[in-house]
Amino acid sequence: MYIKNISLKNFRNYSSLNVSFSRNMNVFIGANAQGKTNLLESIFLCAMGKSFKYVSEKEIIKIGEKFSDVRISYVSEGRDMENRVCLFTDKKKVVWVNDVPLHKLSELIGKLTVVIFTPEELSLIKDGPFARRRFLDMLISQVRPKYMRILSDYNKVLERKNKLLKDIVLKPELKETISIWNSQLAEYGAEIIKYRMDFIKNVLSKAEKIHLEISGNTEKLTGKYKTADVNLKDRENLRENLIKILEENEEREILLRQAVIGPHRDDVIFYLNDKNVKIFGSQGQQRTVVLSLKLAQKEIFFSETGENPILLLDDITGELDISRREYLFSKIKDSQVFITCTDSDRTPEKGGEKYFRIVNGNIPER
Ligand SMILES: Nc1ncnc2c1ncn2[C@@H]1O[C@H](COP(=O)(O)OP(=O)(O)OP(=O)(O)O)[C@@H](O)[C@H]1O
Ligand SMILES: [Mg+2]
Repeated sequence: MYIKNISLKNFRNYSSLNVSFSRNMNVFIGANAQGKTNLLESIFLCAMGKSFKYVSEKEIIKIGEKFSDVRISYVSEGRDMENRVCLFTDKKKVVWVNDVPLHKLSELIGKLTVVIFTPEELSLIKDGPFARRRFLDMLISQVRPKYMRILSDYNKVLERKNKLLKDIVLKPELKETISIWNSQLAEYGAEIIKYRMDFIKNVLSKAEKIHLEISGNTEKLTGKYKTADVNLKDRENLRENLIKILEENEEREILLRQAVIGPHRDDVIFYLNDKNVKIFGSQGQQRTVVLSLKLAQKEIFFSETGENPILLLDDITGELDISRREYLFSKIKDSQVFITCTDSDRTPEKGGEKYFRIVNGNIPER
């Protein structure tokens, strides 16, 4: 798939922009703080319905304005498509695909598939489990719309159970109702764990090959999905096992006044040559693991959808040395790429590049 055109209104430091792209590589060049990352963010927003930055959506609206409007027209499976996201200061966002307003975000996800590589993605290794769950959840949601619905159902039940756990202090009789929520959590939770285990296995089998290539056959990347003490080999009884653990931890959850057992607390641990990357990996090794995982993600999108995802590469020159960058570019020849760089950087020639000089939220005519 490829993006043909972007139109922005009041998006971060852009008042108004309308720009058409190359099917191959698009390079956003400019000094710091001109709006290069913002442009990548606008693409991500139209693909995933939210920002890749951990921000409040209102921050995206240009300061002083009341709304923000982003439209992206693209070609997917040979068809012309348009995703549109409008954010407002005083009401909920509205999302359209081909001019049809959507009721749920899950209807948007997967239409325009993106893989993003930014310096912040190092959080995938360095930060807490949330970042790794987010990586997996975003990946699975883009190829399995059903997964996003289950996840959202799970989160709704979780919210209600957490409220109940707080209310029990004042009304101990409510305790009897916990099992109702637990059985629903176990139902959705078991599905979530199965999806995540299947996908992490797939990601790792691809990432392992990629990582061996990048590291000259010296580093073996492995990993494992970590969940509460549920027997993962026993897939058929995952739900029952989850219920059992929830029951065993009931008193503890009441004491803590929050739900601490379930896939919302799970994690993925990555290893290089059997050593935990988060603890023992050097900065460069951690970055390379992220790169391997992202390239594996791209391969999964292709094998699942038959189309290459859009790649968003922010500031990778500061992230990767020349040989790693060259490896990356050799792997992404067949995708449409959006890449940012400052003046001094040089991007490898891919053929068919289009350069855009970004100046203060504008792309002045050359
Ligand atoms: N809601 C907003 N309204 C107006 N301007 C904004 C808003 N949010 C961010 N900005 C501005 O956008 C600019 C940053 O844009 P961006 O992050 O895209 O820069 P960049 O070109 O990627 O720079 P760098 O090379 O430093 O990464 C900043 O000047 C920031 O103040
Ligand atoms: Mg930037």
